[in-house]
Amino acid sequence: MKPRTSEKASRFTESVIREMTRLAHKHNAVNLSQGFPDFPAPAEIKAAACDAINADINQYAVTWGAKPLREAIAKDFSTRYNVAVDADANLTVCCGSTEAMMSTIMAIVDPGDEVIVFEPFYENYGPDAILSGATPRFVTLHPPKSRAEDWTFDPAELAAAFNNKTRAIIVNTPNNPTGKVFTRDELLQIAALCQKWDVLCVTDEIYEHIVYEGATHVPMATLDGMRDRTITINSLSKTFSVTGWRVGWTIAPADISGAIRKVHDFLTVGAAAPLQAAGAAALSLPESYYKGLSTTYFAKRERLLGILEKAGFVCFAPRGAYYIMTDISAFGFPDDVAFARHLVSEIGVACVPGSSFYRDPASMRTQVRFCFCKQEATFAAAEQRLAKLAARV
Ligand SMILES: Cc1ncc(COP(=O)(O)O)c(C=O)c1O
Repeated sequence: MKPRTSEKASRFTESVIREMTRLAHKHNAVNLSQGFPDFPAPAEIKAAACDAINADINQYAVTWGAKPLREAIAKDFSTRYNVAVDADANLTVCCGSTEAMMSTIMAIVDPGDEVIVFEPFYENYGPDAILSGATPRFVTLHPPKSRAEDWTFDPAELAAAFNNKTRAIIVNTPNNPTGKVFTRDELLQIAALCQKWDVLCVTDEIYEHIVYEGATHVPMATLDGMRDRTITINSLSKTFSVTGWRVGWTIAPADISGAIRKVHDFLTVGAAAPLQAAGAAALSLPESYYKGLSTTYFAKRERLLGILEKAGFVCFAPRGAYYIMTDISAFGFPDDVAFARHLVSEIGVACVPGSSFYRDPASMRTQVRFCFCKQEATFAAAEQRLAKLAARV
């Protein structure tokens, strides 16, 4: 007899991004699919993690986060953006921003509520909404027509997505997969609608420090009237190149933090205690670290754009984060999944089929996403392998 599983779990698939990493391993392919760096994390923070274990910080931390880490996050956010954050009332440390998002949505949304999501979207947001019983409502991000433009949304479509059932909107800026950095003006439009409809804004700001060519990251919580209705999500993963540490957090008004803490406690109890201690050390790195991060990623962006364009891809140059969405129409494959499978098994390079970032995978079959959080040897190997593909165009 086939054991019964929940209806909820049947409504989404396994992560396509993580599946592409497994396929990359299977085919010994260059992995430009899942967004994790293949170069070392800063030496100072690795030393801090070793020190913490040697100092026997090996037992459960306070469930909503070790105080030194909460204090370091509160200090960083309030000094950087001039928004008061109380480490005791507003902060919850979670197992990565993945758990932070899930705990948040479970804490603020009831079955029947609607949650607005920009599409294409980071694939976790769909299952987050389904598991909390919410109905996601999508607003389209349209690709730019030239290098001078960014992805855009239609303000009328956004306004029409809000109604009496809307409980929250998820904003991810800088954005994965598009690389869009929402402008202050766009965020003000979202903020006005949140205030008009009494809606909470959940912002995933995990690529906060990875922006290019003068783009500025504006946290939603800094806009007038938004601090009390914004849940800001972030993590160590991308800023400090430690995606496997699983340390993230939420910054939220006190009562919302209380609800998030309860969900978080029963989901995971807490993030790894020694890595929370190292997180506090990471947040005390000098400002030059963050500048260096953006500069390094800009060079990597240029390198991968060059490789992909030479191989025949039409690329959307990102303003932030570390992904490049591309159009693959020119290659003449039936769809993006067939293309991604060919690329990983025959060419030896893994990417993510773009349809996994859309609600209806059949609606978008001509895009794939590559990541550039990689070292030069990885780019060189990808360049060599993609030459075989270029020959097809
Ligand atoms: C937009 C976005 N949010 C969240 C995550 C997951 O982050 P974490 O490692 O903190 O769980 C990712 C990872 O790729 C991401 O791109």
